[in-house]
Amino acid sequence: MEIVIMPTAAEVGIAAGAEIIRLVTAKPDAVLGLATGSSPLGIYAELARAKAAGEIDFGLVRGFALDEYVGIPMDHPQSYAYVIRTEVVEPLGLNPATVQVPDGRAADILTACERYESDIVAAGGIDLQILGIGANGHIGFNEPTSSFASRTRIKTLAPQTLADNARFFDRAEKVPTHCLTQGLGTIMRARQIVLVAQGEQKADAVAAAIEGPVASRWPGSVLQHHEHVTIVIDEAAASKLELADYYRYVHENKPVWQR
Ligand code: GLP
Repeated sequence: MEIVIMPTAAEVGIAAGAEIIRLVTAKPDAVLGLATGSSPLGIYAELARAKAAGEIDFGLVRGFALDEYVGIPMDHPQSYAYVIRTEVVEPLGLNPATVQVPDGRAADILTACERYESDIVAAGGIDLQILGIGANGHIGFNEPTSSFASRTRIKTLAPQTLADNARFFDRAEKVPTHCLTQGLGTIMRARQIVLVAQGEQKADAVAAAIEGPVASRWPGSVLQHHEHVTIVIDEAAASKLELADYYRYVHENKPVWQR
């Protein structure tokens, strides 16, 4: 695991975005795993800046969203299909035909999830999975005690996640109680993972993911078993790490050939 602690939340998006720019420069038709939520917005802003500056072209990049709510229309502003279209596909100039989101409206959810998994495999697998992390440690919508072997499937959202995400919905509306999410096993098959977290409310989940025992109680901890993970966090999200100074030291002394 590479742990990068940035002074501010704004710098998190820039540092994490650099990993994606590096990948797409080397592989223009890379397959990205696309997270939603507020955490990765700084990454997408940095990628949009690089595109506008003519530094990179995302026209051949393919994508698979991490998750989706069940039961809300695709054009609902809080559906992840809508968020991926407006925050990623349109600003970055991706081809909408090569970006998929799990179908939370499918009549046959089981088949839709199986097809999502086989489409990822058919695309050659995910080159780089972007992740946020929930305050309760979830990645994607893999809530505590999700199986480490899990694949794309329907899940019931934890009460804490419903409360955390209520801010995105009008008062009169209820946050959907179910979702489709790539499984922890799906996420672990990505060749590279970049997780971002900002703010004090993520500090427990970040500490458990990086320094805690590997346990399904904190789903992010499964990443300790992945061979190429970069975790980019701000000072507030790093505030409960025992070894923060060590991570800063390692980052400052990164071998030149790895920079
Ligand atoms: C959301 C998403 C996750 C996200 C996490 C954190 O509900 N399903 O993919 O990483 O929970 O959300 P946020 O980034 O808004 O804090």
